[in-house]
Amino acid sequence: MRMRVTPVSLRQRLVMPLLALSAVLSVLIYLSVRIGADRASEATLDAVLGAAALAMAEEMRAGEGGAVVDLSPVTFSMLAAMGEERIFYRVALNGQTLTGYDDLPAPATPPTALSPVYYTVPFRGSELRVAAVSRSLMVDNRASPLTVLLGQTREGQKAISTRLANRAAGLGLLVFLAAVPLSLLAAGSLLRPIATLAEAVGRRGPRDLRPIRHPAPAELAPFVTALNGFIGRLRGTLSQTETFIAEAAHHIRTPLSVMRNEAELALRQTAEEATRARLRSLIRAVDDSARSAGQLLDHATVLFRADQKALAVVDLAAMLAAMVARFTPMAEMKDMALRLTPADRALPVAGDAVLVEAALRNIIDNAIKYSPQDSDIDLQARMANGFAVIEVCDRGRGLGGSAVQGLRVRFQRGSNVGDVAGSGLGLTIVDEAATAMGGHFALTEREGGGTCATLSLPLQG
Ligand SMILES: Nc1ncnc2c1ncn2[C@@H]1O[C@H](COP(=O)(O)OP(=O)(O)O)[C@@H](O)[C@H]1O
Ligand SMILES: [Mg+2]
Repeated sequence: MRMRVTPVSLRQRLVMPLLALSAVLSVLIYLSVRIGADRASEATLDAVLGAAALAMAEEMRAGEGGAVVDLSPVTFSMLAAMGEERIFYRVALNGQTLTGYDDLPAPATPPTALSPVYYTVPFRGSELRVAAVSRSLMVDNRASPLTVLLGQTREGQKAISTRLANRAAGLGLLVFLAAVPLSLLAAGSLLRPIATLAEAVGRRGPRDLRPIRHPAPAELAPFVTALNGFIGRLRGTLSQTETFIAEAAHHIRTPLSVMRNEAELALRQTAEEATRARLRSLIRAVDDSARSAGQLLDHATVLFRADQKALAVVDLAAMLAAMVARFTPMAEMKDMALRLTPADRALPVAGDAVLVEAALRNIIDNAIKYSPQDSDIDLQARMANGFAVIEVCDRGRGLGGSAVQGLRVRFQRGSNVGDVAGSGLGLTIVDEAATAMGGHFALTEREGGGTCATLSLPLQG
């Protein structure tokens, strides 16, 4: 069985190691400050202790039957410089304690004359650091070994090094705390290109299939390339579909028109009523099919053009006037008038003439189709709130309670139009064309009966 494991987020992948690294760094800072400071202060204190012990040993004189200690002021001041620490000493000649603490422990290895031996021993309840030196002293003409042990507590030093250690710990903690926002910041800046790329792709319209040209860091380039390859293949497939629909519509319409002509001819040549009725319903069916094929072709074209986003400046007022002229014969066949209120100025919009034409054609076609004989249609192009607005109002049957939102759906028709031929693609085309050009389309009941269709497109300039 395959398990779906939620992958760890990139932010986590980045922040966690950074934090771990800075934690290690903090501990290292702490340890190095602590150990370094301890070592340095011990070495300094040892040097002073050793020097004092040597000085004491040097100042031993042979006296009557033993030795005389005659400490110079220098040695005293050296001892005094040891501060708060307590001092213990033992001077021994031939292994016999001459003066000082008899129980001060001797070093494990006996010292030589050259350099002091240092060692740490517990003594009277505290740790003692001891420097041991030895030299030989001529007593009664015999060379006798003289040993000087000088011990010193290190409590003050301990206190100082604890303070230093605390400070080091604080410093380490500070480094770690500073690393938290910094690593979050680093993660943020690293992930920003991904976010901006996602935003750039997400901002696109649903039909925008241009390749991604958004600048991306080199590491994301393979991803962008793969995505562009995918988009390219998708666009290829889509355009193949468009072509297919266009060709299919064309190849259906041509034989249909031949069929219609033949049926009309047959109708004219037949007197038998049953056959005539059959031929008439055949002609109606052929008309329906031809209209559907035309609408499908229109829709395919609109979809394709919407993809291209080939927007140019189009004068909406002029286009409406041209469309009215084109539909006037069709209206006159139903004894209808198309009453155009001309705009007082040009209405330039950023649009695609093919899309605008398809939208206007379907709006006016509906107005004529769903209006009774002898009724007039009012058309108007005007400006409102930065939009060029075209309004087409008829005195037809109205929407019969159908929701406009539903009528925009492909192949959806109203409940009150069963007697009129149609494919339900017209409003879909209008709506898609309007959206593609950044505008919108509305269909409302008109006061006093009828319907108003409103197409708004953003004004240019
Ligand atoms: N001017 C109008 N008057 C009344 N109903 C309309 C009008 N325009 C559109 N409609 C309603 O919207 C539906 C969808 O319109 P459309 O998509 O053009 O399809 P068709 O016209 O082929 O039925 C129509 O079936 C009709 O019910
Ligand atoms: Mg229609």
